[in-house]
Amino acid sequence: MFKIVRKKELNDAVTLMDIEAPFIAKKAKAGQFIIFRIDEKGERVPLTIAGYDREKGTVTIIFQKVGFATKALGSLNEGDFIQDFVGPLGKPTGVENKKKVCVVGGGVGCAIALPSAKAFKEAGAEVTVIVGFRSKDIVILEDEFKAVADRFIMMTDDGSYGRHGLVTQPLQEILEAGEQFDEVLAIGPIPMMKFVCKTTEPFGTHTMVSLNPIMIDGTGMCGGCRVTVGGETKFACVDGPEFDGHQVDFAELMNRNGVYRDREAEVAEKHTCRMDAMGKALIQ
Ligand code: NAD
Ligand code: FES
Repeated sequence: MFKIVRKKELNDAVTLMDIEAPFIAKKAKAGQFIIFRIDEKGERVPLTIAGYDREKGTVTIIFQKVGFATKALGSLNEGDFIQDFVGPLGKPTGVENKKKVCVVGGGVGCAIALPSAKAFKEAGAEVTVIVGFRSKDIVILEDEFKAVADRFIMMTDDGSYGRHGLVTQPLQEILEAGEQFDEVLAIGPIPMMKFVCKTTEPFGTHTMVSLNPIMIDGTGMCGGCRVTVGGETKFACVDGPEFDGHQVDFAELMNRNGVYRDREAEVAEKHTCRMDAMGKALIQ
């Protein structure tokens, strides 16, 4: 069992938790992920590691409460336990030999972009960070990014904070001005990663994306997380999750990620929260 030692709501839909998991904290690197299961009947959910504290033995996860399992996790509190917390899985962000990089984070994907930005900085790179959110009220981790970035650009879709527009806009401007990066790393919703790749492709800028396909075992056995990269089948859990974005078949990824959308909606509709039921029983 794994204890939740800290819980913080970052905005209405996004929660941060520090989980006591000393063996994972000891080995974790930016870009890797864990799989959690709330209880023995729970769904297995992969989450990229948002941070770790090797001394305290804790691993930070930041998640959006969208599906059944993440909503259930979000309903737990400090001091509660979860059944399984497995990792670190996947390959770390490749930070070696990069002198100048640009990390692009979209929405909740910023939680994953932050440790990679930190890792690039620690490896000696000059780091530009571009982050994008729909509006000011859902901005997360701004101070943390500012602490590691040599240049920080905040974008909002509605112009309520930072610059007005999508993350691809300043990226395009910087590349058009003739600046070159050894790597652009984009982490966020699939359309964002796809359009970051479309932006960098004409400039020949090496671009990595962190993919989040459906995963089951997380160890390369079930094939659930397969993605097509450069015409070859790869397993995101063992070959990734970061891949050369110019080679990724984004259309296939989008289709595969939508397979269970109707089923999830159906389950969410039928589900009666046990906590609510318990509360009502106590009142009666
Ligand atoms: P969002 O839809 O609010 O987008 C965040 C930002 O991405 C926007 O503000 C914009 O700047 C940029 N963006 C979005 N679409 C774009 C486009 N077509 N072109 C250029 N830029 C674009 O993001 P959200 O709701 O916070 O994110 C939720 C999604 O992110 C979920 O689908 C989730 O699965 C995914 N996600 C992915 C990862 C990952 O590892 N890649 C991690 C966490 C979440
Ligand atoms: Fe099963 Fe990757 S999650 S092969």
